[in-house]
Amino acid sequence: MAQKILLLPGDGIGPEITAEARRVLEALNKRYGVGCEMETAPIGGAGYDAAGQPLPDETLRLAREADAVLLGAVGGPQYDALPRDVRPERGLLAIRSELGLFGNLRPAILYPQLAGASALREDVVAGLDILIVRELTGGIYFGQPRGIRTLDSGERQGFNTEVYSESEIERIARLAFAAAEQRQGRVCSVDKANVLESSELWREVVERVAADYPGVELSHMYVDNAAMQLVRAPKQFDVVVTGNLFGDILSDCAAQLTGSIGMLPSASLDEHGKGLYEPVHGSAPDIAGQDKANPLATILSVAMMLRYSLGAGEAADRVEAAVGAVLEEGLRTPDLQGGNRPVGTREMGEAVAGRL
Ligand code: NAD
Ligand code: IPM
Ligand code: MN
Repeated sequence: MAQKILLLPGDGIGPEITAEARRVLEALNKRYGVGCEMETAPIGGAGYDAAGQPLPDETLRLAREADAVLLGAVGGPQYDALPRDVRPERGLLAIRSELGLFGNLRPAILYPQLAGASALREDVVAGLDILIVRELTGGIYFGQPRGIRTLDSGERQGFNTEVYSESEIERIARLAFAAAEQRQGRVCSVDKANVLESSELWREVVERVAADYPGVELSHMYVDNAAMQLVRAPKQFDVVVTGNLFGDILSDCAAQLTGSIGMLPSASLDEHGKGLYEPVHGSAPDIAGQDKANPLATILSVAMMLRYSLGAGEAADRVEAAVGAVLEEGLRTPDLQGGNRPVGTREMGEAVAGRL
């Protein structure tokens, strides 16, 4: 039976990179009968332009109906002056929250062909394979109260609240431990328990959950040290589990280990394994519309979608192998150092589709 994929290109480089992901899905359909039916809807700034909302009702309806969602990126300078509740980023936060996508898997894997492209020495990153499990629908991103208030003195004050309930911590911890069981069996929980009560509870709950996974070794690390360790000796990590804000920051940091933020895919999953798939990077307004964006993070997000939501592990393997093959041939978008064949977004996408 055909599976319904909703494409949400979004803003900036979003339309360019999702077009290449679509090309890859169409090639899989044609060659291997994967059977994906694709539909497109606006989100982010494009949603605001089309329907006055960063997450139009119709887009959310289609997302609920789809078997999986693939998103490009949202945001751009032309939208930065809008009221906060209609800003593009709100559309992304809203779809994550509405669909209950609490579990964000962000694998940082170094393709051996890119060992020289990392900002770090080759021996520090060679063989890197870490999985950041980021809590995605809680923490300071969603905590109440929040806002900007005027104090008696007349001065204004911005405020946000970091909150985590036990059930929220427990389910993200279970996701991380289950993932570690399929990997090297190590979870490092990252928090700021030396300062924050929300982290104190986080640590306690993660400890409790660990008892159900005797085959997995648990360690804890403060987030400031974790940021340092990620660039000092990243291969010490297997699975990193952390809250929404820390996970956002650490995953961009991990991205650079792999050669470029243009290489990092992600899966955002609900309790039943339904998911939204998107690159970790943003809408890159500085290079939008110039055929410069690296489409591989989005194409690798397609692989995660095939594996986690569509039960098509073999097709996922094919996509990842095709990415390896084009890198091996020396194709590089401008964000990737090395290689011997500079290419644009489209040529990179065509090459991957051609190697499936
Ligand atoms: P960004 O990730 O868009 O860009 C950071 C830098 O990385 C830029 O120099 C950009 O050119 C480069 N880059 C990013 N993706 C690339 C790719 N695929 N190929 C080559 N180079 C790439 O982050 P930013 O500049 O902080 O944010 C820009 C806009 O994107 C903002 O509006 C922000 O809110 C939004 N954003 C959206 C998402 C998302 O939709 N998931 C994620 C992060 C940022
Ligand atoms: C990401 C982005 C988003 C986040 C923004 C655009 C809301 O940075 O997906 O990493 O902070 O979660
Ligand atoms: Mn981010």
